[in-house]
Amino acid sequence: MTPGPGIPPVVPAGRLAAGPQPVLELPGGLELRPWRLDDADTDALHTAGRDTAISHWNLFTVDSRAEARARIERLHARRRAETGAVWAIAPRGGGAVGLAGLNDVDLAGGTAEIVYWVLPAARGGGLAVAAARRLSRWALADLGLHRLALCHSTANPASCRVAEKAGFTFEGTQRSALLHTNGWHDLHLHARVSGDPE
Ligand SMILES: CC(C)(COP(=O)(O)OP(=O)(O)OC[C@H]1O[C@@H](n2cnc3c(N)ncnc32)[C@H](O)[C@@H]1OP(=O)(O)O)[C@@H](O)C(=O)NCCC(=O)NCCS
Repeated sequence: MTPGPGIPPVVPAGRLAAGPQPVLELPGGLELRPWRLDDADTDALHTAGRDTAISHWNLFTVDSRAEARARIERLHARRRAETGAVWAIAPRGGGAVGLAGLNDVDLAGGTAEIVYWVLPAARGGGLAVAAARRLSRWALADLGLHRLALCHSTANPASCRVAEKAGFTFEGTQRSALLHTNGWHDLHLHARVSGDPE
């Protein structure tokens, strides 16, 4: 939300798009790194698009390499427009095994929503929690946002666990808030605000 008259922007315009998208180190030799166009030549996005959980919960589909490439180009365009910033979760020097990023970035209002998915073969090893923690530290401490929301369907307990373990406080339930393929879902709203304990 745009700050009222006389209130300066929380983060000045231009800061998210300035310079190259950073690489953020994760434990265990992993990192959050920008999506590369050659990621479209691997199976990562295609596998994600065919995974029933990712396509259901993240409303995510990718049907071809051309579509994967177009999607990666759109991610970079959104960072240039300062409305989003999305990273691949990957072993250093390796192919993507997941995604973590910020949607609905509002620099002036100081807010964004955090999103993530992990490919089936990489689940259960703490990747989503590590990525959400690292990304929220960067977004709040380095980029300078004030509040990060994290929303998930009440029928997705794994995502609720990720939110809790990554330090996103549960704030309430939004009734019938997101339309999935099987109808409207209630959403849990979690958030981290600047100054929350790690
Ligand atoms: C949700 C998701 C991102 C978790 O990724 P991950 O790397 O396996 O997550 P982590 O290993 O960091 O942590 C998962 C936690 O959820 C728990 N969990 C997994 N399935 C669960 C379930 N059905 N019910 C409750 N908790 C569950 C795990 O036990 C773990 O908690 P623990 O460490 O205390 O044991 C991944 O399963 C996924 O991509 N799912 C499909 C898409 C999706 O749900 N995206 C989020 C949309 S909001």
